[in-house]
Amino acid sequence: MTESQTEVRKGLAGVVADYTAVSKVNPETNSLLYRGYPVQELAASCSMEQVALLLWTGELPTEEELAEFTARERAHRALTPELKAIVDALPTTCHPMDVCRTAASVLGAQDPEAEDSSPEANLRKAQKLFAAMPAVVCYDQRRRRGQEPVAPREDLGYSANFLWMAFGEEADPAVVEAFNVSMILYAEHSFNASTFTARVVTSTLSDLHSAVTAAIGALKGPLHGGANEAVMETFEELGIRADESPADAEARAKAWMEEALAAKKKIMGFGHRVYKHGDSRVPTMKAALDRMIDHYGRPELLGLYNGLEKAMGEAKDIKPNLDYPAGPTYWLMGFDIPTFTPLFVAARITGWTAHVMEQVAANSLIRPLSEYNGPDERHVPGA
Ligand code: ACO
Repeated sequence: MTESQTEVRKGLAGVVADYTAVSKVNPETNSLLYRGYPVQELAASCSMEQVALLLWTGELPTEEELAEFTARERAHRALTPELKAIVDALPTTCHPMDVCRTAASVLGAQDPEAEDSSPEANLRKAQKLFAAMPAVVCYDQRRRRGQEPVAPREDLGYSANFLWMAFGEEADPAVVEAFNVSMILYAEHSFNASTFTARVVTSTLSDLHSAVTAAIGALKGPLHGGANEAVMETFEELGIRADESPADAEARAKAWMEEALAAKKKIMGFGHRVYKHGDSRVPTMKAALDRMIDHYGRPELLGLYNGLEKAMGEAKDIKPNLDYPAGPTYWLMGFDIPTFTPLFVAARITGWTAHVMEQVAANSLIRPLSEYNGPDERHVPGA
């Protein structure tokens, strides 16, 4: 074995593990392309349904293809009574990500095509998961609030229906638009930890639902998807005061951050393994947050946002990642904080399953090596 083969790269940092045609992250130009299209353009002009099809098939759909998919997606939104019963059996003390993880597994067990990994079957399964996960997320949030579930509406698009099932009222078009933007930005991001997890599972020739179930587990952690919840917990720790001026809120947030950094705390929503000069998705999500701050009339949130960002920039030159503007956006919309990462799940199902299909198409078992650093060989006494 050569020396380069035994070089240990902690966290696989800088390791190029495979090819992908799903998305391209370029930290130098601060750009993110889905199948060649800049994510900002997609967020500005497309629905989540169009982006999902783009990620799965490689092309933006024609009107006919979109209509055909939309009809299928709407037909698979409702939860089966069996799945509802399983969700109901889970304690409300568990994290909503545990509910998503369980639901993905149950949807696999219920799918007659679960073991069929042909491209056609995998696409159908991906689309059914994409259609059903919003209902899981909303059903769970409502049951935790002691509210009756809200059935999906076939006359609403993906994002409008998502908000309808969550809150039981039709959302303002501006809110639907901001939510749609967040879903598109969360949909895909190359070989992040959860997508790589999905690819590892797929590489053993396991099934799509197993890959997604494992990916949900990987996304749950605060170093990955869980950060959007942690961001809002920081805001709540700081205290969100509706009557505070943005300038006062900013000063308070700056002071809080300086103290936190002096105490060597890691602040969720900042930093990124790949982007060291800023996350390509943040400007688009921040613009959506600004629109929501105006819509809901909560300028003090902008003060907190700016204060934390400025203090982090001045002290460590570390930039926000997508979770930083996404957290307060979801909070303004009325989602409970523990529901934020499940929203990420609903969006990322598209990227995960696109990668599953790509992995199946050119599979090689993912099995890295390790450099042993335990005790030298020794023997059981008397053996
Ligand atoms: N707060 C404070 N310091 C930070 C932060 C942060 N959020 N992020 C990085 N740093 C510091 C580290 O302490 C370290 O400093 P040191 O060299 O003095 O020890 C240096 O920056 C490098 O940080 P690493 O953690 O080694 O960088 P890495 O590339 O491994 O980490 C990561 C990237 C895990 C995302 C990190 O920035 C982090 O923990 N951020 C907070 C969690 C988060 O927001 N995750 C969301 C990721 S994006 C997404 O999932 C959509």
